[in-house]
Amino acid sequence: MRSNLFRTKNLRAILQTAEQAETRLKRALGPVDLTLLGIGAIIGAGIFALVGTAAAGSGDRLGAGPAIMLAFALTAVACGLSALCYAEFASVVPISGSAYTYSYFTLGELIAWIIGWDLILEYAVGNIAVAISWSGYMNQLLKGFGINLPWWLTSTYNNPMITADMLASSPHVLGLPIIINVPAVFIVFLITAVLVIGIKESSNFNTLMVVIKLIVLLFFIVVGAFYVKPSNWVPFAPNGLGPIMTSAAIIFFAYIGFDAISTAAEETRNPQRDLPIAMITSLVVCTILYIAVAAVLTGIIPWDQLNVSEPLALAFSYLKMDWAAGIVAFGAVMATTAVLLVFQMGQPRIFFSMSRDGLLPPFFARVHPRFRTPHVTTILSGAFVAFFAAFMDIGEAANLSSIGTLFAFVLVSGGVIVMRYRDPELKRPFRTPFVPVVPALGMLTCAILMIMLPWTTWVRFVVWLTIGLTIYFLYSRRHSKLKDEHEG
Ligand code: ALA
Repeated sequence: MRSNLFRTKNLRAILQTAEQAETRLKRALGPVDLTLLGIGAIIGAGIFALVGTAAAGSGDRLGAGPAIMLAFALTAVACGLSALCYAEFASVVPISGSAYTYSYFTLGELIAWIIGWDLILEYAVGNIAVAISWSGYMNQLLKGFGINLPWWLTSTYNNPMITADMLASSPHVLGLPIIINVPAVFIVFLITAVLVIGIKESSNFNTLMVVIKLIVLLFFIVVGAFYVKPSNWVPFAPNGLGPIMTSAAIIFFAYIGFDAISTAAEETRNPQRDLPIAMITSLVVCTILYIAVAAVLTGIIPWDQLNVSEPLALAFSYLKMDWAAGIVAFGAVMATTAVLLVFQMGQPRIFFSMSRDGLLPPFFARVHPRFRTPHVTTILSGAFVAFFAAFMDIGEAANLSSIGTLFAFVLVSGGVIVMRYRDPELKRPFRTPFVPVVPALGMLTCAILMIMLPWTTWVRFVVWLTIGLTIYFLYSRRHSKLKDEHEG
């Protein structure tokens, strides 16, 4: 039993599967495409939306204040350590499926399943949060053009702004008030359609979005810098160290995405070289931008006024510069569109890899005969995200996504140590420096961030893992292709 649960894949077999013609994906991406894909995945709801409540606090939770800059730096360290581990794995096992595939090769089937299941939190649940943020900024833009959607078509049930009167005035079905976030559903459907048509086309679309969001963030930093009052930065850490750590965990969501690059390994022309370069480059660029944005934001507006869902736009509204707030809102819509695109592309590819291994039913691995994309899983992922984006709260979805991602990072970092010990001779085009110190610190920093997340997030996470393990023992373990190899 023990050896069955921890059976590992043979690297050669992994590489061969990827070359089988009927399930092969088109190799179209180079290093610049990949870095843009990374930035496309990273800059989104985290910096445009969650940064506000992380700085100001919300409900019972105290905010970090101007020290949100420090929180960004601390989280970047945890991500950087994990990125160095991801890069080694991605360079050795350049196959779609990300951490799932890496762990199948090193830590065995059960852990691989847990990671694959857990990555659904990162990609699909993360996108629920991003779609909700997209909807918020889109709604704001539409209002700027005089288009006002009814509130019950752009909100969710647990929105604290909803009053009893509003509830009573919304349409009812079977006595229940109807509240649906329609723009969030709409954007997920649109992205799904783009992805079914093809990877190269989607990549061009992504490049355009990334350029726009970089320009808009730079615009925020450069224009905003003229209005910074250094007195707003004092005191720097008004609530002390605890809230800085909690905020670091909350804004971890802003960094999620550099690892999504590895899911495109099979569609990359030179994965050994390009994957590590793209992961590290995109992480460094985003860290610099985030700290600069946090400095300008808390320099313009007193930190305790930032508990809103559109804080960057608020900063310009505060300065009575509505035209600039409009530009930021437009940038946020573009930024979150790009994030949605990368994650909606990553999720199906993880399902695809799991199905190719027999852990999910075979129809998940179908490739469209003409478009050469995993259309079945793309559509399924779109339906899942759209359904929950219609009702869920952004903070809940973001925290659940973060805990899942952090857990995957812990396992990947541990995997680097295991792999070095188990297979020291393996060709590693990219080597994580200072093993085991770097991976061990990666595990530690990610575990600390996990601990800082709210207990409700932990409950949801444990429920999610329990469902996943049940599916593994009832279906996946028996249908695993590796099982046939081991027994046949
Ligand atoms: N890092 C991504 C975002 O902030 C998930 O939207």
